[in-house]
Amino acid sequence: MSASSNPFSMASYRSENLAGSATVPGDKSISHRSLILGALAVGETVITGLLEGQDVLDTANAMRSFGADVVRDADEAWHVHGFGVGGFAEPERVVGCGNSGTGVRLLMGAMATSPITATFTGDASLNKRPMKRVTDPLALFGAQSYGRYGGRLPMTIVGAVNPIPINYIVPVPSAQVKSALLFAGLNAPGQTVIVEKVDTRDHTERMLKGFGADISSIKTGEGQVITLRGYPELKPRSIAVPCDPSSAAFPICAAILTEGSDIVVPNVCLNPSRTGLFETLREMEANLEYQDVREEGGEPVANLRAVFSPNLKGVEVPPERAASMIDEYPVLSVVAAFATGQTSMRGVKELRVKESDRIDAMATGLRANGIEVEEGEDWWIVHGRGHGNVPGGNRCATRLDHRIAMSFLVLGLAANKPVSINDASPIATSFPTFEALMTGIGANIRHLSE
Ligand code: S3P
Repeated sequence: MSASSNPFSMASYRSENLAGSATVPGDKSISHRSLILGALAVGETVITGLLEGQDVLDTANAMRSFGADVVRDADEAWHVHGFGVGGFAEPERVVGCGNSGTGVRLLMGAMATSPITATFTGDASLNKRPMKRVTDPLALFGAQSYGRYGGRLPMTIVGAVNPIPINYIVPVPSAQVKSALLFAGLNAPGQTVIVEKVDTRDHTERMLKGFGADISSIKTGEGQVITLRGYPELKPRSIAVPCDPSSAAFPICAAILTEGSDIVVPNVCLNPSRTGLFETLREMEANLEYQDVREEGGEPVANLRAVFSPNLKGVEVPPERAASMIDEYPVLSVVAAFATGQTSMRGVKELRVKESDRIDAMATGLRANGIEVEEGEDWWIVHGRGHGNVPGGNRCATRLDHRIAMSFLVLGLAANKPVSINDASPIATSFPTFEALMTGIGANIRHLSE
């Protein structure tokens, strides 16, 4: 299903006193991986707290088409009966991955070392995104790929009949690429070694260990060296998915920006490879507290309390922090608009190849709402106007990108005039409860009838 199958516009209006507890959905990265790893184990994996956004539902359907039995029960727990490493069946139809880069890249990796052929497609956004970053290293395992010009979807992967393990340095900072290659390595003999020069989210490594794979990870002068032994027998398990820090970002930033607000977002995954936004907000002097920090299911979690912060300061976000907050730059740029001084974000070329070109999408909408933005290929600077001085009043294009849609709705909650978006439907890919959650804490967000 495409996010834009039913486009609808929304607007947000200046709000205050956001209050209460706001539980955001399960982490998207962990949700995709839970379904895929559940299918690669033999027996029943039970997942609670799975994100039921369209991206993850598309991955659930894909795993069904590869032969897994995936069922949601009446108590909202998901049961995956896996087929085991190397047990992929050949899908009868094209595998539709909707809007999800994570879904398609992880799935391509997982099936690429099995002797089957699968064709993948996505929506208009996904079909523009680069896939060679995954298919080039998959070719080293022996998989072939046939896509459109420039390695775009729709694309057919012919899995390797006799896969060869690889030793590969990932050239782009991408957890999706790293994870795709680790999944591929599961069905190759011997050791697959993946080196990442820049640390990216490590959910795949943690989860593979939890499922019983022989995997180790050490820091060397070259970077993080991850070694995986092929042909493990993965053991099914129970997974409680923690709440998504990338979704928590929206109510947290809304509370920081709106007068009188004080909210708590419980049970947020605080894996250190995901907390860059929260560190940056604190450096900007936002009132953001971690409460009851604890460990659950192999991931650190905490309740996050966010309080209205009228004296935000612009900051330099260090480039080495980019991977730990790559999905949060759009909403950070909104917070930066309400700070005094400029916020510069460098080393962020990857933002140009997300669901949309996120630098261009945000710069265009912020400028339309009275905020000065400068940009280059891998950097951008937002010139903050200070609390109470952001004009707003204009419409923004969301470009099939959920995070752009939610970021502009947060902008309108604190700007002087309302901000509207042309299409809120992409929000359902990652945060289907966004509207209910935001209105539940008191945010003035409405559908526009046009
Ligand atoms: C993800 C990795 C990131 C992130 C995406 C989820 C993952 O993408 O932007 O939303 O689950 O591995 P890249 O690997 O392209 O950086």
